[in-house]
Amino acid sequence: MEDYKKHTTKDGSLSLYSLRYKEGFHDMDGALRESINKYLLPAQLEQFSSAEKIVVLDVCMGLGYNTGCILEELLQSDIKIEWHGLEIDKRPLDLGLNEKIFQKIWSPKILHFFNCLNKSGKWTEGFNEGTIHWGDARQKIYEIQDSISFDLILLDPFSPQKCPELWSEEFISLLTERLSFDGRLITYSTAASIRASLKRAGLKIYSIVPSIETPNKWSSGTVAMKKKLEHQFISKSNQFKDLSTREVEHLTTRSSVPYRDPTGKGKSKEIISTRELEQSKSQLTNTSSWRKRWNTAQLQ
Ligand SMILES: C[S@@+](CC[C@H](N)C(=O)[O-])C[C@H]1O[C@@H](n2cnc3c(N)ncnc32)[C@H](O)[C@@H]1O
Repeated sequence: MEDYKKHTTKDGSLSLYSLRYKEGFHDMDGALRESINKYLLPAQLEQFSSAEKIVVLDVCMGLGYNTGCILEELLQSDIKIEWHGLEIDKRPLDLGLNEKIFQKIWSPKILHFFNCLNKSGKWTEGFNEGTIHWGDARQKIYEIQDSISFDLILLDPFSPQKCPELWSEEFISLLTERLSFDGRLITYSTAASIRASLKRAGLKIYSIVPSIETPNKWSSGTVAMKKKLEHQFISKSNQFKDLSTREVEHLTTRSSVPYRDPTGKGKSKEIISTRELEQSKSQLTNTSSWRKRWNTAQLQ
């Protein structure tokens, strides 16, 4: 396990630091808290209360917090669940399952789900079923039948500068094609490049409202949908909102230049350098002037 360092986050839940990517799996504030605030709450599972079935795709399952939180809720209802996970490394889940502080977070049903995936890659319970597709998400997504569209896509790779291959214009467009009309793609990312790619793929985008524990943040992530939400619905919901002027302007800066991976097999270094070259030739506004303007506006 020399690639990972275990640590306990502020809410007492286990997380990992990847020595390879030089990045943590979660916010230091709390692995579990992050999944609740950035994935479970914006999913607004009550919107599926009258549906017979829900199809969930977890992109980068890792230790499984995002899925764990969502299944804890769904398994208390009558809705039929079809779950798919994409993850390149089997070790994080195995490592979590061997740790007491991880085990005690979850109900027996969720631990059973995790143990099934860990042992055989498959889970069934009554009408519910799940499969983890181990390997590179860019290829493994094709193992999931074309006819299946996802109601929830939980997009949680390492940051775009560390793992650009899973934030590319092409991969985002592929995920968009597989999103159901009423479905939601949810990610912690607020990056202009990602939001711009989501918009170009034809999605409406909303900003996740930061939790009360992080009042200084301007956004906690992005919810993207094919369907346009009614204004009344957005203002009633305190989970996400329309993009602010600051966020809209962010999409007009050089930061909005996308990561490109036309073959679906590009190496991260190549993807980053292609983008840097495109940014250097771009006529778009410098991100530093946008940042300066908004930092000054905040001080006034
Ligand atoms: C930020 S962590 C995910 C955290 C996770 N959602 C959790 O709750 O623990 C990113 C994950 O992406 C996985 N990953 C990196 N490259 C990948 C790829 N090309 N395809 C699939 N998974 C990948 C890593 O192994 C790691 O588990």
